[in-house]
Amino acid sequence: MRKSEMKLIHSERIAKDTFELILEDDYITQEAVPGQFIYISVPNFTLRRPISIADVDREKKQLTILFKVVGKGTAELAELEPGILLDCLGPNGNGFPLDMENGGHALLIGGGIGVPPLYYLGKELKQKGMEVTSIIGFQNAEYVFYEERFSALGDTYVVTDDGSYGNEGFVTDVLDDITAFDTYFSCGPKGMLLNVTKKLSHKNGYISLEERMGCGVGACAACVVRTNTEAGYKKICSDGPVFPAKEVIL
Ligand code: FES
Repeated sequence: MRKSEMKLIHSERIAKDTFELILEDDYITQEAVPGQFIYISVPNFTLRRPISIADVDREKKQLTILFKVVGKGTAELAELEPGILLDCLGPNGNGFPLDMENGGHALLIGGGIGVPPLYYLGKELKQKGMEVTSIIGFQNAEYVFYEERFSALGDTYVVTDDGSYGNEGFVTDVLDDITAFDTYFSCGPKGMLLNVTKKLSHKNGYISLEERMGCGVGACAACVVRTNTEAGYKKICSDGPVFPAKEVIL
């Protein structure tokens, strides 16, 4: 991980309050693995924002991030014009394991803005010959994104809270219909992760946690999570954000 000036190549609103940025550089794009994030400095704001990596094109030296506008900083980020150089730290944290010993079928379970890192993961797993099934959940039809991209990887179930698109309910409601998988990978709000890990406690899985961060590099302990390992608490920014599901106490 190191500091890099990333050039904004493309910016687009892809769903309600949801923006996709494509950034270019020589370093982070070559190093990033699925599950890692970049720590981005928005012009005129002091605090950096951690944003997960949604896709990487190593040849083009480009990386995609998605974020939801939730405050002034992210609103500013959404307004930036292509060509600007952004001060980024990355790639940060530990990503998802890509070499599965126990089988060839991955189940991806994402909710809201936890969906993007699973796309990059799904692409890499498919390239390694794994079968990929995805469940992606959103508030309602206006927030749905990347359905086509996930469908290109394998069977994809879209779920919305109010049933305005796809299945009605929560991602966990679809889990009952899918049993033929070896390992699951999940990212989304804490409540969703709690339900997913409870329902799949008999399965091998990995979850990616999101938390407000301070330093973003393991120095301030602003992002700790309780685990049942000897270490007790672990830091999401540097030990995670990806953890074996059985290790974390949510
Ligand atoms: Fe400082 Fe994680 S944000 S240790």
